[in-house]
Amino acid sequence: MSAILHPVLSTAAERARRERTVPEVNEAVKSIKPYVATSSLDKIAQRPEDVAYKLDWNESTIAPSPRVREALAGLLAGGHPLNWYPEQRNQKLMSALSAYTGLDAESILVTNGSDDALELVCKTFLNNDDEVIVPSPTYTHFLVFAGAMGAKLIRVYNDEPMSPNLKMILQALTYDSKLLYLVNPNNPTGVMYTEEQIRLILETAPHTVVIVDEAYYEFAGTSMAHLVNEYENLVVTRTFSKSFGIAGLRIGYLLASPRLVVELTRLHNPKSVNLFAQVAAEAALSDLEYLHRYVDQVTQSKRILVDFLRSRGVHALETPANYVLVRVHDTRRFCQLLEDENVYVRDRNEIPQMKGFIRMSVGTVEQTHEIIARMERVLDRDFSLYAI
Ligand SMILES: Cc1ncc(COP(=O)(O)O)c(C=O)c1O
Repeated sequence: MSAILHPVLSTAAERARRERTVPEVNEAVKSIKPYVATSSLDKIAQRPEDVAYKLDWNESTIAPSPRVREALAGLLAGGHPLNWYPEQRNQKLMSALSAYTGLDAESILVTNGSDDALELVCKTFLNNDDEVIVPSPTYTHFLVFAGAMGAKLIRVYNDEPMSPNLKMILQALTYDSKLLYLVNPNNPTGVMYTEEQIRLILETAPHTVVIVDEAYYEFAGTSMAHLVNEYENLVVTRTFSKSFGIAGLRIGYLLASPRLVVELTRLHNPKSVNLFAQVAAEAALSDLEYLHRYVDQVTQSKRILVDFLRSRGVHALETPANYVLVRVHDTRRFCQLLEDENVYVRDRNEIPQMKGFIRMSVGTVEQTHEIIARMERVLDRDFSLYAI
């Protein structure tokens, strides 16, 4: 049976059809540049017989702890009723996270990846035209979340992009600054702020929500999580996508004072974290030895890779995260030649202040030696393209 429209509405519908009008998107959304989600999965799928090195999105280069797979298999084998929504504040996961972060469960909110946490903070706090301070270059997906709320983004660039510049951040803060987004260590530059510097930001602007994005915390080893007990304007975001190796399942969390968590819970979708992600995260947290072994491999690999590149006269920088930066003459060609070797890296040349830079994730030492062998072939083909 077809729906019966009110005569006025049906005239409007008729006119819209005639004039081919489509629904208008939100004004703030119109001006947004979509986040470019470069993923090489389709190219990798075309060469199933070769070992690929996917180093373009800072994911872990190895499978997560075997306990993750066991827990997931156990869940299915145990006949879990998948027809039910997941437990909202999964008790086992909450206590594992509480032990891992050293914070009470009231300070923790589990989200669908840390992207979801970033978006939630933006939706909860930002009004149209609110000022958001963004030390840059930064993780660009955040710009979409803040931009969608109609926020005014104040990008703070440092003349020396590879060093911290607290002074410029403090100068940018005003009484109207509603939010500040700091990635620590930063993606893509690797710049890191100390606890003392972050305390100063928090104290200078108690009216500003300060997000410290710790997506790479496990690699860097320094966290601001304990400060949520002291500062009501701090939100720390973290993820299981990087060091824990379960990016495909989408799970992260935020840490904040209990009062702030209550505010954030207003818009938080309690169904957004699926059962598999909850079970996998809990299993990953039960095997911190596996995590530490991987982090240790990454630390060694960064040194090995950077030493190799420098020995070949290529400008390379280590970061405290799980990636290194390589500066070359022609990023596009460099990336293309690496792709021919089934190695996928991220060209950051187009980002202001990142001219000539590519970012590449690192993994185990064994993988790094194989990547170096492939890079040797690339450099041997035409070194002049890479030397700066
Ligand atoms: C700084 C930063 N924050 C957040 C994310 C997104 O993480 P998740 O997979 O938890 O959404 C990334 C991913 O690259 C990142 O680099």
